[in-house]
Amino acid sequence: MSFEQELNERKDHIEACLRSCLPEEAGFAKELAAAMNYSMTAGGKRLRPMFLMEAFRLFGGSGKLAEPFMAAVEMIHTHSLVHDDLPALDNDELRRGRKTTHVVYGEAMGILSGDALLNYAYETAFRAFAMGDPALVGRALAVLADKSGIHGMLGGQSVDVMNDGKPLSGELLQYIYENKTGRLLEAPLMIGAILAGAPEEHVMAMERVGALVGMAFQIQDDILDVTGDARELGKPVFSDEKNHKVTYVTLHGLEEARAEVARLSDKAMAALDVLPRQNPFLLELIASLVTRRK
Ligand code: IPE
Ligand code: IPE
Ligand code: MG
Ligand code: MG
Ligand code: MG
Repeated sequence: MSFEQELNERKDHIEACLRSCLPEEAGFAKELAAAMNYSMTAGGKRLRPMFLMEAFRLFGGSGKLAEPFMAAVEMIHTHSLVHDDLPALDNDELRRGRKTTHVVYGEAMGILSGDALLNYAYETAFRAFAMGDPALVGRALAVLADKSGIHGMLGGQSVDVMNDGKPLSGELLQYIYENKTGRLLEAPLMIGAILAGAPEEHVMAMERVGALVGMAFQIQDDILDVTGDARELGKPVFSDEKNHKVTYVTLHGLEEARAEVARLSDKAMAALDVLPRQNPFLLELIASLVTRRK
């Protein structure tokens, strides 16, 4: 099977898993459920649940224990996108090829459905307690919570928006990328490993892989913001310029940004290579991100 076929097969599995977890659009709060489902079903690469599943497989995991966490990490990521697009943050009107949630449902529902997705992620992940070793599930939940909050994605997002229009040091830019983007890529790689029963040293190795991939991923996102195509990306181009953001590209130029994406990805693959077990699909997936167009 080709990489593309394997990718599509895995994506189909993730889509089915996500659909089975979404809230029912019924009762007085059905508008909230509809707004949550609107962003969750819009598509997207589903990279974070895919990383989680591939890390789980890499360490010999099997069965459905990873599924609640796959859905949860995609819900937290989608929450971050819904809120990232709000007028108070990046003020963007296109996401995953559709009008953004606040444009369709109004700003109040944009805020509330983002909040509700963040909470629903934990409601979903808690289901794993009934499916596997509670000690492993507890550790996985602690990682998910830590990487999403003030010491992770939300911390990074806060420093990112507070610095719109301001000059940034390389050090501060690194903090922003490591947190707003890196932490939510570290989390699924670590959680997959934890749920499969990997030893702590290998969980830490997966955290390093996630950090490297995360930095490369955000630099590529900045590159695509100035070189991509809105229709292909499913989100606007030149959002960073509109928000007067300093990015890796404005600091170092396109050529150096591209070289750094390749260097970081090579390092991530090398860190996977030294593990006692291998997952060739995960390696190909990381390699494919270097030249991604969306
Ligand atoms: C976009 O994430 C936000 C960043 C962290 C750069 P993705 O590029 O993974 O978005 P989707 O999930 O495919 O829509
Ligand atoms: C945001 O970075 C990363 C998130 C945590 C959502 P961007 O603001 O560059 O992400 P896009 O380009 O809107 O997807
Ligand atoms: Mg942003
Ligand atoms: Mg944005
Ligand atoms: Mg961007």
